[in-house]
Amino acid sequence: MSLTIAALASGTGSNIEAICACIEGGRLDARMALVLSNAPEAPVLDKARARGIPVWARDHKEYADRVAFDQELLARIRESGADCVVLAGYMRLLSPFFVGAFAGRILNIHPALLPAFPGARAGADALAYGARITGVSVHFVDESMDNGPVIIQAALPVHDHDTLESLMARIHALEHRIYPQALQWLAEKRLLLEGRRVILLPGRETRETPYTHGAKSSGAWLVSPGLEGF
Ligand code: GRF
Repeated sequence: MSLTIAALASGTGSNIEAICACIEGGRLDARMALVLSNAPEAPVLDKARARGIPVWARDHKEYADRVAFDQELLARIRESGADCVVLAGYMRLLSPFFVGAFAGRILNIHPALLPAFPGARAGADALAYGARITGVSVHFVDESMDNGPVIIQAALPVHDHDTLESLMARIHALEHRIYPQALQWLAEKRLLLEGRRVILLPGRETRETPYTHGAKSSGAWLVSPGLEGF
């Protein structure tokens, strides 16, 4: 079944671009119906406009409170016909009524191996802590920050000479592969929730999805469950 996506973002929009590229390339069975932002100057908006995707952006400070802003978001998303909400660098917690309205249909990407390093500075926190391995998580969204059931994770080493920029560049490269993959599994209805655990059901051509790994001079990486063509 094809997904109709509404994306929420506050920043650069590289993940939304990667998702759109996979849709355009026929690898992700989805349509990007609307990109919404609480930051009217966010670069993601011009990227969406350039692709002909409708955008909606308002500064959340113009609204009385979080609930009022989230009510407007929900109304716009419903109007767009979206059946799934993708958070990609959306820097605000969603109200419980919003999460309830799209239960099991809101995904987020986080640049660390949750539950390690939640929050807005995950890459810097992993470096400052001295973590030797960090990564990326795509998870279902619940009412708490960076907390819902994990769908897919990618791990990568932190090198001795890493700066925040070099580490985040490798993290982003993996984000751009695992987010479309998670969405394709959602489109194929292959994500079964058992408590906090997400079970990946077999696909039409895939009985089992073992981890995927790779190594280049720029570093090694490991993804589990594995990537299917992303
Ligand atoms: C990503 O690192 C994502 O993990 C985090 O916010 C960042 C968004 O990047 N939640 P972009 O705007 O998609 O480039």
